[in-house]
Amino acid sequence: MCGIVGCIGVKNPVEYLIEGLKELEYRGYDSAGIAVKDENEIKVIKAVGKLKNLEDKVKKSGLKNPEFGIGHTRWATHGKPTEINAHPHRGAFSAVVHNGIIENYQEIKKELQKEGIEFISQTDTEVIVKLFEYYYEGDSFKAFEKTLKKLEGAYAILLITKYEDKIFFAKKGSPLIVAKNGNEIYFASSDAPLIGYAEKAHYLEDGEYGVADNEIHLYNDSQKISPYFKSLPTNKESAKKGGFRFYMEKEIYEQYDVLKENTLGRNTPDGIKFDELDREFFEGINNIIISACGTSYHAGLVGKYLLERDAKIRTNVEVASELRYREPLLTKDTLFVVISQSGETADTLETLKMAKKAGLKTLALCNVDNSSIVREADKTILLRAGIEKGVASTKAFATQVMTLWMLSNYLAQKNEYEAINEAIEVTKVDSALHEKIKRLSKRYLHGHGFFYIGRDIFFPLALEGALKLKEISYIHAEGYPAGEMKHGPIALADPDLYVVALLSKNILFEKTKSNIEELVARDATVLTVSSEYIEMTDDFIKINDTAHPMVEFFEMMLVTQLLAMEVAIRMGNDVDMPRNLAKSVTVE
Ligand code: M6R
Repeated sequence: MCGIVGCIGVKNPVEYLIEGLKELEYRGYDSAGIAVKDENEIKVIKAVGKLKNLEDKVKKSGLKNPEFGIGHTRWATHGKPTEINAHPHRGAFSAVVHNGIIENYQEIKKELQKEGIEFISQTDTEVIVKLFEYYYEGDSFKAFEKTLKKLEGAYAILLITKYEDKIFFAKKGSPLIVAKNGNEIYFASSDAPLIGYAEKAHYLEDGEYGVADNEIHLYNDSQKISPYFKSLPTNKESAKKGGFRFYMEKEIYEQYDVLKENTLGRNTPDGIKFDELDREFFEGINNIIISACGTSYHAGLVGKYLLERDAKIRTNVEVASELRYREPLLTKDTLFVVISQSGETADTLETLKMAKKAGLKTLALCNVDNSSIVREADKTILLRAGIEKGVASTKAFATQVMTLWMLSNYLAQKNEYEAINEAIEVTKVDSALHEKIKRLSKRYLHGHGFFYIGRDIFFPLALEGALKLKEISYIHAEGYPAGEMKHGPIALADPDLYVVALLSKNILFEKTKSNIEELVARDATVLTVSSEYIEMTDDFIKINDTAHPMVEFFEMMLVTQLLAMEVAIRMGNDVDMPRNLAKSVTVE
């Protein structure tokens, strides 16, 4: 995900900007840039790829006396990762960096174009600087306030202009921090860049904006307010993990924000909108094949339930490593969908090439723009999950399922705006829930294996829960359809067989409950996850009561992820880098 830095009143601003961006590298990016005021001009330097490329360009740029500046690492969402699309974006006399998404950028762009204003990038961000300059009539602060009033969506913004020795800033929906050390003012989108430069910082709230010279002038709703300074962490590594023990834990906690980003501008009160798709693309499509591996395959299985039930399109989900060698029948009325966090999984990529060769339309659901899969596919919906460091996929899975849900709404022309928002809400980790799972985890360490059971969409979630557990705890675990246990696996039931039962109130409640009873009767140790309390099982985790199964799904997902992680932590394992596994599987 994108990163922001900025500073003013600092001896060597370029050093802070570059070093600060390095601290944000771990979040993932595909281009970077800085803008500084130098000799009364705004100079912008950008480069695609690693920060080293930017550093080299900065060294050769002949900057004379940079006074203050802003910087950015970009993870492409609107437009390809090119130098033109990289931030900062500039106008005639100012430059801007931005995190988030301006939902009404198309509208603003059209209005400004009618006024003869030209755009060079494909980004939503460029409208900010062009709008600012359009409104500028000698008072930068007024123009900035007017600009903010026009913007819809989410943003963290830093803007500089050659007419003032100031940095203008604003936050709504995307994080932004401002720190002060004497007359030195620093900005960053997360803690890490600020550590070592300042000891205290103000974490902006939504709706706050202002201007910094050698002071921080902070506003909310045109009213001046005082910054509230908090101590910054002192350890950079833990700051990168946001104070969490593992990246996986941080990524589980990030799911709420990431899902907001994933649905931004897509889930609207008028239904689902995908900038990257048009309805014509789906003309003549009667079937869907989804091809993926591991966690992405499990997301695909959820997609099958949704696409068939809601959009009424026959959908088959295939493990890519099987599909590529089994000479499948591929007909041209089939849309071939690949799902991949990394965009580099060799098996998935090969099936995509195979489908293209057979003349099928292809669509990728992927987290990494410009990856091999994105380059190969006809169309892509980016997952916007930000970089995922933990080998065990969590937030990417959440965004894959959410994207499939939105896709099935889009194809069914169904509007579940409220339910989607409700599902995002339940991914906010409740500390009491986490604490309970932490405590419970100690009872689930020494059995002879786990079964995760569920029906309907909760069956793929059972598969995913089991995969999470085995990847990081090295305990044997299987996901099973709850109704299938009696056809064999129930023979394993004894007190040392652990069962995690995903009991939906909304789908086949009584039937799943009976399946749980069958296991209890054979003395298996059962942990039930449900909104409906059932007394018979050994342990119970209560989720929120809701009328929508997908809302239950997202909360149960959270529970299974936290449980796997807490069990693995108790076993003393390296949760982020489990043995024998790689984050991106580029071999077959
Ligand atoms: O990058 P991809 O989504 O294509 O990766 C597919 C699998 O390798 C991946 O999901 C794997 O199963 C993860 N380690 C799951 O946590």
